[in-house]
Amino acid sequence: MRVQPVTEIMEEFAARPWQAVPDADLGVAAEVPTMLTREEGCLYHWLGRRAKGLGATVDLGAYAGGSAARLLSGLALSGHPFHVHSYDRFRSSRAYWSRFLPDEPLPEADDADLLPVVRRHLAPWADHVTLHVGDIGEKLWTGGPIEILSVDAAKGSAMADHIADQFFPALVPGRSILVQQDYLMAVQPWLPAQMVGLREHFLPLAHVPKVGLVFLSVAPVTEQALAAARVDTLTDGKLMARVREAARWHEGMVPRAAFKSMLMQIKEHPGVRFGWQMRRASAEGRR
Ligand SMILES: C[S@@+](CC[C@H](N)C(=O)[O-])C[C@H]1O[C@@H](n2cnc3c(N)ncnc32)[C@H](O)[C@@H]1O
Repeated sequence: MRVQPVTEIMEEFAARPWQAVPDADLGVAAEVPTMLTREEGCLYHWLGRRAKGLGATVDLGAYAGGSAARLLSGLALSGHPFHVHSYDRFRSSRAYWSRFLPDEPLPEADDADLLPVVRRHLAPWADHVTLHVGDIGEKLWTGGPIEILSVDAAKGSAMADHIADQFFPALVPGRSILVQQDYLMAVQPWLPAQMVGLREHFLPLAHVPKVGLVFLSVAPVTEQALAAARVDTLTDGKLMARVREAARWHEGMVPRAAFKSMLMQIKEHPGVRFGWQMRRASAEGRR
């Protein structure tokens, strides 16, 4: 199989071909509820379709199966064998349920089981998907090479480290794609801090609004690299320094304002390393 040169991959992504994907191409996947924007959903489908069958697809943070369905609908058109591993607790609050699953009967209590809904949503590809139920922080990856890795569950700095430790070493340099779905969210500054620590290992390919960044793996992620990129143990000062470094790294691809908002969040919430805690503290401050 021809190995696509990195410059060609950069040009391919710079043309943003996923924007031309019509909803009709997604088929039944377009009906599966998702927290992704339309463009992000088309990106996932397109990434699946361009896959070469080099390894698994991993979907970290599945919620109701929207991201998995879009990946699967693309993979099914790739012409190669495929399998998606979707990870989540598969539980939902009533508030999220009513917002993202308005057509499903609202459960009576929080922490409702999403699995029956997810299984129904992913039924068209049932033989091509494995649901890994539970805390991702307790999951280990032993499934071989990963061709597409979507990270939508690194909501805290310790989880970002765990995900990197477990899944990044399985990425294939020159071939594998990493989507950091929450990359530019102000309340998750550890993501750019982590990736800039791995700048010799990943090449930024595209910013996909609202907040996602797509990377190409370009070098094997070793234990030594992971240790140097760890974010959970960084002081606020070091975290801010890394965010500033990331802003310089992404100059021309990402507006500086995104990183300024992250710096503000760190300043306003010293020592906080969970996105939900930053969000809640900001909301309480506004009251
Ligand atoms: C933004 S949502 C994912 C949205 C989904 N990709 C879509 O297409 O709609 C994030 C998901 O990550 C999951 N998550 C966050 N932290 C987790 C953890 N430690 N273990 C398992 N799942 C987790 C949540 O349960 C939630 O469903």
